[in-house]
Amino acid sequence: MRIDSGLKYRYTTFMTAEELRQKYIEFFRGREHAFIPSASLVPENDPTVLFTTAGMHPLVPFLMGEDHPAGTRLVDYQRCLRTSDIDLVGDDHHLTFFEMLGNWSLGDYFKTEAIEWSWEFLTDKKWLGLDPERMSVSVFGGDEDAARDEESAGIWESVGVPKERIYFYGKKDNWWGPAGQTGPCGPDTEMFYDTGKGCSLGRGDECEPNCGCGRFVEIWNDVFMEYNKTAEGKFLPLDQRNVDTGMGIERTLQVINGLDSVYQTELFEPLITIINNLSQIKDTMAERVVADHVKAAVFIIADGIQPSNVERGYIVRRLIRRAYRYSLQLGITDDIFAPLAEKVIQIYGQTYPHLVEKRDFIFENLKNEKEKFAQTLNQGLRIMQKELSLKERGAFPGKVAFDLYQTYGFPKELIEEELQRHSVTLNDEEWREAEIAHRELSRQGAEKKFAGGLADHSERVIKMHTATHLLHQALREVLGDGVGQKGSNITDERLRFDFTYPKKVMSDELRRIEEIVNEKIAAGIPVEKRILPIEEARKIGAIGLFGEKYGDKVSIYLIGDFSKEICGGPHVSNTKLVGKFKILKEEASSAGVRRIKAVVE
Ligand code: SER
Repeated sequence: MRIDSGLKYRYTTFMTAEELRQKYIEFFRGREHAFIPSASLVPENDPTVLFTTAGMHPLVPFLMGEDHPAGTRLVDYQRCLRTSDIDLVGDDHHLTFFEMLGNWSLGDYFKTEAIEWSWEFLTDKKWLGLDPERMSVSVFGGDEDAARDEESAGIWESVGVPKERIYFYGKKDNWWGPAGQTGPCGPDTEMFYDTGKGCSLGRGDECEPNCGCGRFVEIWNDVFMEYNKTAEGKFLPLDQRNVDTGMGIERTLQVINGLDSVYQTELFEPLITIINNLSQIKDTMAERVVADHVKAAVFIIADGIQPSNVERGYIVRRLIRRAYRYSLQLGITDDIFAPLAEKVIQIYGQTYPHLVEKRDFIFENLKNEKEKFAQTLNQGLRIMQKELSLKERGAFPGKVAFDLYQTYGFPKELIEEELQRHSVTLNDEEWREAEIAHRELSRQGAEKKFAGGLADHSERVIKMHTATHLLHQALREVLGDGVGQKGSNITDERLRFDFTYPKKVMSDELRRIEEIVNEKIAAGIPVEKRILPIEEARKIGAIGLFGEKYGDKVSIYLIGDFSKEICGGPHVSNTKLVGKFKILKEEASSAGVRRIKAVVE
């Protein structure tokens, strides 16, 4: 039952995020999909991306043809993080951290079922019961890489979407993937809900789903993954045709509960209230940025990343610093991080229990980083004041300002505000020169990093992945069965393995470990994959993370009778393909945990 409240339709019954997750899972379970739990925000053994940006990410090996232990039809909710739209955060529907519901066909069903089920779930009263009249869809319009998707358009028509609400767009709008530089991708079809608001960009009747004004909210995307993008930029047909769908939880909640923005949903509203209570100034955009960034930081830290100056650590550092800066803008003087983090854990703790487990770690990192930044701000202000006192007249030197920004992390906006207070202008020309010089330097760095080429890049990663299994077992043989995996991270340059062990590993032990791994490589042992129920995996003595990662069945990689380990893969087919293994370093990682870095050559 709906009540007409002016322009918007509101439901008399309110749906919570957890109800939405459960309904979705129930719907697809009823269509033979197996539920798989959310993977970490930090992709396992994939150095091509910093974070899990979509549900497909953890599933790439299976989209490429590996067997998934849970079968060919999967359903999940996946935590995701995107920083590409960070400047849009604070409008009505862009977020850094978000969740995606997804149903997956790994070489199983294709367009017909995917579209029919999407429509049924969205519009049937038993499920979301959205007004079909308010739904529009878009499909791929075709280009030199792939044909115009008349097939999907036809299926939409057959379920009842009129032609005039089916839009054809190009690659920019209706193509998804690959998640990194290369890999599975394909045309997609997107589903939009018309909020009924006028076009805020003044396009009137010309306003379409891809307008960007916020009238049409994209809530679901069905991707038909049938191509593999190669390092040369070619789109080759995949051996298996997959379906990857992603339904944004926050946006869908907004729409079904008749709200104007994702920030009004129960996943945000309690955070906004805390911020409002501590603010002295009303600034909707700023309060949304604070809520979004603190939530994202909490989730990243919970997945084990601490603020630092590189890669993931740098992203979380920026999020915390940006949140802090916006909190100052709101006139907040009390600590905002602890109460917000507490609330985030409360909102999501049941769905993501690791947040509760990591509570202290989260609080400690937020606090340290905030304090460090407060110090930076003070230091920066002092440097500025010194420079200002030296200057009698004229613009503030752009190079000094850029260094403050780049080296000290002092926000440009604050530099400008401070200068404004002193009625001094910034030498923009000099700033730009310093910026260009800096960019040149970082580009050289990036090119060096990719010098090996992308193709052998992933090959090296796979080799190191197999080497990691050999290392894990060799450690157990030499140091005892108390050794357990604590973490693993592989880039194209090295592997890193963290394991429980109470003391330093002696150099003769390290030599022996290295020797064992190299013996196993030289022996040319075939690497075999098996999918077994978890109890059986235990029975045959497989090691690895037994968690509930894959529900009932798990995939195991066997290296002869030397190593049996639970793992999603991929691996080389024979150990002789690994190359020569060399330990670079052994060090402490944290209390009771040691870390080994090694390479294969
Ligand atoms: N990968 C697609 C997206 O992120 C669908 O899940 O939109």
